[in-house]
Amino acid sequence: MTKRNAIILAAGKGTRMRSKLYKVLHQVCGKTMVEHVLTQLEKAKIDNIITIVGFGAETVEQRLGHRTKYALQEQQLGTGHAVMQTKNLLANEDGETIIVSGDTPLFTAETFEKLFEYHEQRHAAATILTSIAPDPTGYGRIVRNDVGIVERIVEQKDATIQEQAIKEINTGVYCFDNKKLFAALSKITNDNAQGEYYLTDVIGILKQENEIVTAYKMDNFDESMGVNDRVALARANKVMRNRINTHWMREGVSMIDPNTTYIDADVKIGRDTVIEGGVVIKGHTEIGNDCYIGAGSRIIDSKIHDGVKIISSTLQEAEMHNGSDIGPNSHLRPEAEIGENVHIGNFCEVKKAYIGEGTKVGHLTYIGNATLGKNINVGCGVVFVNYDGTNKHHTNVGDHAFIGSNSNLVAPVNIAKDSFVAAGSTITDSTEQYDMAIARARQVNKENYAKKLPW
Ligand code: UD1
Ligand code: CA
Repeated sequence: MTKRNAIILAAGKGTRMRSKLYKVLHQVCGKTMVEHVLTQLEKAKIDNIITIVGFGAETVEQRLGHRTKYALQEQQLGTGHAVMQTKNLLANEDGETIIVSGDTPLFTAETFEKLFEYHEQRHAAATILTSIAPDPTGYGRIVRNDVGIVERIVEQKDATIQEQAIKEINTGVYCFDNKKLFAALSKITNDNAQGEYYLTDVIGILKQENEIVTAYKMDNFDESMGVNDRVALARANKVMRNRINTHWMREGVSMIDPNTTYIDADVKIGRDTVIEGGVVIKGHTEIGNDCYIGAGSRIIDSKIHDGVKIISSTLQEAEMHNGSDIGPNSHLRPEAEIGENVHIGNFCEVKKAYIGEGTKVGHLTYIGNATLGKNINVGCGVVFVNYDGTNKHHTNVGDHAFIGSNSNLVAPVNIAKDSFVAAGSTITDSTEQYDMAIARARQVNKENYAKKLPW
């Protein structure tokens, strides 16, 4: 097999996005556009990948790290000029080079592979990946001669009215014979409507030199969509979302309404899990088998084991073990770890705490900086008072303890196993096994006093 190189064009500022963020760093289903492109090129087994970066280069390099080499394009003088910046790294290499824009996040590795095959079979100098756009506005058009042979690519701004009517567009992906690419690049000019060095002009130049130029027409326009503004970004998200949801449904996940189910590209979900509408699952979240994720839940970078039920709750960097349940309207914050068969009810918040197997936290409770054992009952409205204004302190609660409703556990404090905290207590001293701790003012009943009150 001949050597396969790839160039990702990612130096453009993306003026049309009207953003402080570098264009290719805008996200599609939780992953930057340029990472989508890179991931698919890696899958297509291309080992020599160069990303062209410009303005804001560091931010792109932080994102992609060592997965690619970089070439700097200091001034954005056009896509052809961008490719020229790889000259030192690439110009003397044999083999083929695929070029992809960093703002076309929907391409798949299979399409790249098909393009390579098509190109190789025809011994072409260049193969353009094209598609038929329902609305081709903004794209470069493929100009073919009377017998359908590709002649050149014309950009929207340089096209005649007749050319603008062409629906076959340049997807911005090409496969080139590497050495012929660089030879042709040295001949392009910026004599066009935008005063830029267009990569697309290389096609016309190779044609004039009687090189073989072909086009591989893909049948799925959606996959070739370029993102130049926020409207296209929303469309790309929709296409990707549909692709992700279809994948998981085929893998055995039920979705009540896939149109309103938002799952990021790197999420994993097990079989027989059911997801209701209006659910957002982000980042590197993993969800096991037989879970139920109710409407309105938002789960970010969390690990959910098997048989877990989440109803209208928010989880971030949290873990829920087998058979546990939460909600409605509860919140797990970073480092909350919920043990097997734990029940967390409504309006509870848990942060940096471990809750052991079989423990119940039914209602309106805050647990922060704590370790709870097994089979504990935490009543309604309990507050783990973890912060003294300067430092956070830890609370331990042993197995089978009982924390009565409306109690405050003022950390640092240890509630021993099998001990009992009476409702309404503010606990500042640790308890021993089988203690009952009660820390509240005694009740006084004043006979007939209610009659004197103004109601
Ligand atoms: C480009 C193509 C057009 C094609 C479309 C497909 C050219 C001249 N036009 O148009 O034929 O239909 O993509 O989506 O190539 N970039 C640089 N340096 C630059 C300019 C751009 O690295 O100096 C990068 C951008 O970051 C972007 C990519 O190249 O990722 C394409 O540039 P963009 O300005 O978006 O080109 P389009 O107008 O979309
Ligand atoms: Ca573009």
